[in-house]
Amino acid sequence: MRPIVALAAVALSVASVGVFVRSSAVARTETTALWAEFLTKLRRHGGAGVLWLLIARCVRAAGSLQLVGVYERDLATPPAPVRARIPVTIAPATLADVDQLVPLTAWQEDVRDHERSAVARHIEDGLRRGRVCFVARVGARIVHCTWIAFGWQDTFKGRFAVLPDDAAYCGGSYTAADYRGLAINTEVNAAILRFLRDRGYRRALAYIDFDNRSSRKTYEQMRWQKRGDLIAFTPRGCKTYVLRIRGRIEPVAERALPPHCHDPR
Ligand SMILES: CC(C)(COP(=O)(O)OP(=O)(O)OC[C@H]1O[C@@H](n2cnc3c(N)ncnc32)[C@H](O)[C@@H]1OP(=O)(O)O)[C@@H](O)C(=O)NCCC(=O)NCCS
Repeated sequence: MRPIVALAAVALSVASVGVFVRSSAVARTETTALWAEFLTKLRRHGGAGVLWLLIARCVRAAGSLQLVGVYERDLATPPAPVRARIPVTIAPATLADVDQLVPLTAWQEDVRDHERSAVARHIEDGLRRGRVCFVARVGARIVHCTWIAFGWQDTFKGRFAVLPDDAAYCGGSYTAADYRGLAINTEVNAAILRFLRDRGYRRALAYIDFDNRSSRKTYEQMRWQKRGDLIAFTPRGCKTYVLRIRGRIEPVAERALPPHCHDPR
């Protein structure tokens, strides 16, 4: 076992004991859920992912903590051809797709009825404002979406990507849980790079949480380059604080939108 995994397992055991000594049924359920999350994280994101899960959990009462890599894809070189492991049809979504897009855009497949209309409005606004949502379909069912923004995009709470005319921002990728691991995100990523190149864009930007190994694999395979790292801390109910760790992180966490951009809030 690698030291980082051992350290994470010890920390998790201590955390579990802490929860367990409260010795109620609720505490036992919490412990079981924590172990399940630990094992999933270990399988998908490795020991470093587990360690980060524990650190993020420790500060959860105060707010959310993200360690993020800022990625850029120079569109001078075309993406390598890549195919998902099942046949999918990839195309930009239209307003007719909004209903199906709601759970995928919300990253919540059991999205509650009272939240649906707010998410649907957000999707419609995005499409009307010129954002493009690439979807992958299996038959008639939409199983994946990734959003592309031009001009600007909100990234963290009270922070924005402010994009030059030759750049686009990609984000919000979501594959339905029962279709993951089939390279659908990877084929969609390649389709988006081709779409942007064909329209004369010179680079694409994105950010990825460091413990999202699946996303990183896709971006590395599609030859995105990491150009910087940052820590983002969002205290409950407040705007996000951003600390640059390394490299270049602009323009994905700017404090304000320039006057010609409309502030969404
Ligand atoms: C991240 C996410 C979009 C990836 O979608 P996907 O269609 O499963 O991605 P791919 O199949 O193209 O995955 C890329 C790599 O990760 C692996 N992978 C992805 N999901 C996996 C899973 N559930 N189990 C095992 N491996 C998985 C794939 O095997 C692939 O590696 P490979 O090419 O060496 O086989 C999806 O997991 C998801 O929706 N996650 C929740 C939202 C999220 O984190 N979005 C990303 C924000 S940047």
